[in-house]
Amino acid sequence: MTQFKQFYKKTQRQRQEILASLPTLTEQDKQLLFQNNSLSSDIANTITENNIGLYAIPLGVAPDIVIDGKTYLAPMATEEPSVIAAASFGAQIIKKAGGFHILKNDRYMIGEIALCQLDDIEHAKMNIEAQKDTLLSLANQSYPSIVKRGGGAKNLFIDIKTSQDKTHTFLIIYLMVDTKEAMGANILNTMLEAIKPTIETLANQSAIMSILSNYANHSLTSISCQIPVSLLTTLNTNLTGEQVRDKIIQAYQLATADIYRATTHNKGIMNGISAVVLATGNDTRAIEAGAHAFATHTGTYQPLTVWEKADNGDLKGTITIPLPIGYVGGSINIHPSAVLSQHISQTTNAKELATLIASVGLAQNLAALRALVSEGIQHGHMALQLKSLALSVGATQDEIPLLVEKLKQEKVVNQEIAKKLLQTLK
Ligand code: MEV
Repeated sequence: MTQFKQFYKKTQRQRQEILASLPTLTEQDKQLLFQNNSLSSDIANTITENNIGLYAIPLGVAPDIVIDGKTYLAPMATEEPSVIAAASFGAQIIKKAGGFHILKNDRYMIGEIALCQLDDIEHAKMNIEAQKDTLLSLANQSYPSIVKRGGGAKNLFIDIKTSQDKTHTFLIIYLMVDTKEAMGANILNTMLEAIKPTIETLANQSAIMSILSNYANHSLTSISCQIPVSLLTTLNTNLTGEQVRDKIIQAYQLATADIYRATTHNKGIMNGISAVVLATGNDTRAIEAGAHAFATHTGTYQPLTVWEKADNGDLKGTITIPLPIGYVGGSINIHPSAVLSQHISQTTNAKELATLIASVGLAQNLAALRALVSEGIQHGHMALQLKSLALSVGATQDEIPLLVEKLKQEKVVNQEIAKKLLQTLK
């Protein structure tokens, strides 16, 4: 996709024209792209209660995300200035290194039914286990359309768990469902409510609740990349590629040792992940809750990526993250920008989209770590932040680049200085 070369240097109109030439975009997508008006207030008023209008977030694209030989474009909705630039930069390095590779891409959603303080918990567990097949077919009867599409309830397992203070013991029934292209909250909740009465009869006790779980540890996507050190040298420092590689590995190890760092490391990954999740009409809170919970799966909060030295001396990176995203249903079919984003992305289904989202997370993390261990994060952030500063003091689109140049000459920059400099341009 040569037209995406130096995409960041093009005007907004040129970028829109390049995207409009993609065969995956419909006439409606193209209109939406050029109109810059993604959601009618009628639709907004239908989606949420007490609606008073819209809150807009910039939509951009990180091009050239090459995954197992196929090139994708990541649509990203974010208000943070440096996020799309960093994802694009990381993805460029990884593209030159042969692209991203899919290691794992599972897609089973989980929901649970919990019962508390049973007189004979083991007996109840045995009774339910003996009826596993009946329960699975009851679940499937409650949502035949997903079964028709080849999905449905696939497994059921039971566990006994005790509260932290040891005062409450729970019998928990977990249902695993293949929700195909849907995120599956409705499917799961319908199935769980359908089997709840039978479970209550078998356990001789009413349940506390039944609900989908956002701890989607059976919906894991794992992506890797391997980067020759020659691609890691930086222009602004005289560090060698080997030194940058070793420092990135140190930065990763620091995150494994220190929760203060691990949280920020993962926040940076989620900068990219949440931006694509939002742009494609998915639930950012669900993905963030699941990602941070999964970061604790070893018992301590850990980074979601791993950076290590490959046998040949390359830098090897891996991300593993739960991505129970949807491709249909929810707000996806209602929000025209979500559909536009799907068409821009070049993905065709939920599994492919999950690999794109995870790849963006890995690219984002590479760019952040590389900057942090070399020139520092402010260097790259500053130019983008100066643009926002110029805008905030009232610079017009023509004045922004001139004011940014003037601000770059200053040792200290703030609103007051920006206002004074803007006056000199008027
Ligand atoms: C800023 O939004 C994200 C970073 O702090 C991530 C990181 O430190 O890895 C730059």
